[in-house]
Amino acid sequence: MSKKWDNERKHDEYHKKAKKENYYSRASYKLLQLNKKFRIIKKGDYVVDLGAAPGGWSQVALEKVGEYGLVVGVDLQRIKPIENEGTFVGIRGDFTDEETLKRIKQVSNKKADVVLSDASPKLSGVKDIDQIRSLELAENVLKISQSLLKPHGILVIKAFQGEEFENLLKKIKMGFKTVKTTKPPSSKKKSVEMYFLARDLLEIKKKV
Ligand SMILES: C[S@@+](CC[C@H](N)C(=O)[O-])C[C@H]1O[C@@H](n2cnc3c(N)ncnc32)[C@H](O)[C@@H]1O
Repeated sequence: MSKKWDNERKHDEYHKKAKKENYYSRASYKLLQLNKKFRIIKKGDYVVDLGAAPGGWSQVALEKVGEYGLVVGVDLQRIKPIENEGTFVGIRGDFTDEETLKRIKQVSNKKADVVLSDASPKLSGVKDIDQIRSLELAENVLKISQSLLKPHGILVIKAFQGEEFENLLKKIKMGFKTVKTTKPPSSKKKSVEMYFLARDLLEIKKKV
């Protein structure tokens, strides 16, 4: 049994598991594993899920927030209908647009407890281009999260590893008190994706 075959089989298992457990995407297990390890989402939380389609992370977030929680999912693509205890609001749009950001803010007058982003750019197949696009997207998420999150909020961002990855890490560290990089077991080993987990906003010091 080759290692490659073994790996593929293992990851297919997440795909099969998702079908069996009614999750829209095998990606759900990444959030389940991140949440188990880092206790990200709590009952009653308000969660914003950027790049949410087809809806696997939003399904998990809804389970975790429970009946008094709120999940806002945003994507360019259609998010599948989600039924759960908590309240779900889907927004179709580009989260890097001001207009979409306004729509997110209109959903609740509260700041979010958690901002999630599993967003990926449309893949070109050219490794360097895809990495740059992923990092640009992640920088956008970082910027947006500063205006959406509570002071003690949590941010989870996906980014592809590449040349500018360390720079992105530095930028996240400038905005948050604690920052970790992590790769959940269900993230394919051959995938260059990594997740940043950042907690507690640092006050942005105004330039004098
Ligand atoms: C890997 S999928 C997310 C899977 C999702 N976490 C799940 O569990 O179902 C990445 C998503 O990011 C979305 N995306 C990428 N850039 C975006 C943008 N600027 N605005 C909104 N959505 C975006 C894509 O449309 C795609 O649906």
